[in-house]
Amino acid sequence: MLRGLPLHSDPNLLVGIETSDDAGVYRISPEMALIQTLDFFTPIVNDPYDFGRIAAANSFSDVYAMGGKPLTAMNIVCFPVKELDKVILRSILEGGLDVIHKAGAVMVGGHSVEDPELKYGLSVTGVVHPERVLTNASAKAGDVLILTKPLGTGVLATALKGGKLDEELTIKLAELMATLNKDAAEVMTEIGVHACTDITGFGLLGHALEMAKASSVCIRIYADKVPVISEAIDFASMGMIPEGSHLNQKFCSQHLDISHDLEPVIGDILADAQTSGGLLISVSEEKADQLLQRLIDRNTPAVSLIGEVLSEPKGMIQVR
Ligand code: CO
Ligand code: CO
Ligand code: CO
Repeated sequence: MLRGLPLHSDPNLLVGIETSDDAGVYRISPEMALIQTLDFFTPIVNDPYDFGRIAAANSFSDVYAMGGKPLTAMNIVCFPVKELDKVILRSILEGGLDVIHKAGAVMVGGHSVEDPELKYGLSVTGVVHPERVLTNASAKAGDVLILTKPLGTGVLATALKGGKLDEELTIKLAELMATLNKDAAEVMTEIGVHACTDITGFGLLGHALEMAKASSVCIRIYADKVPVISEAIDFASMGMIPEGSHLNQKFCSQHLDISHDLEPVIGDILADAQTSGGLLISVSEEKADQLLQRLIDRNTPAVSLIGEVLSEPKGMIQVR
């Protein structure tokens, strides 16, 4: 939407809007850059405390995806104060605060407005060394791709809305989305990787395509290696696919070469709009085993080598 509007350039703006990256990065000294991001949305689970945790974990994710360390967070609240009990808002904020503390960050304030539709999220500020910023624009041919959470949260959230999820699966879904990408981010910055992005609303295909375009490479995904919450495949087969996932497939279709012998439902899952999804990490092949092992040691929700980076055709996704 900003296209054509007069944006000022600034040599200290290391990551702006051009590459559709996860967050803005601004250098404030030769040793330090600020990472700034903001995310908020409507409830995707019924439990207010869990909604708060999920929205907060999702907001932190963009700082982690840039290789940064979060410092401060601010609440963004839209609340229908005449229709809903304030106890609900208190639970949401409590969930958010618990995640802020888990991230090792501090809550510094926020803003709330009265709105007929409840929404919550955070604005998060973090820091990173200017030379160690992980963008989505530096994946290299020969790299392998690692994903740190299973796909399928969009399908399961749709099933939940339709009253089709049992309690056990509802809890499993909430826990997965409320899990911070903190451990995965710490491990990847220790080891040193080439590029990273987190998987959220555009699904694995959409975010991988942004990486392929920004890095001028081809990304090849091995469909059978991609971790998926098994129940999500069943629900997707029944047609429980969020609207956003259809849009993602459409958005990617011009740049997508998907093997014909794959079941159509696999395409639906790969494009599934995620909330608080995992990190997609592009790392040199030599470091891959070490990274995988350390991710396992830190109990990362999923640890899978899901693809590779090729030099050609640039800006394309191949699914095999
Ligand atoms: Co992101
Ligand atoms: Co975001
Ligand atoms: Co990034």
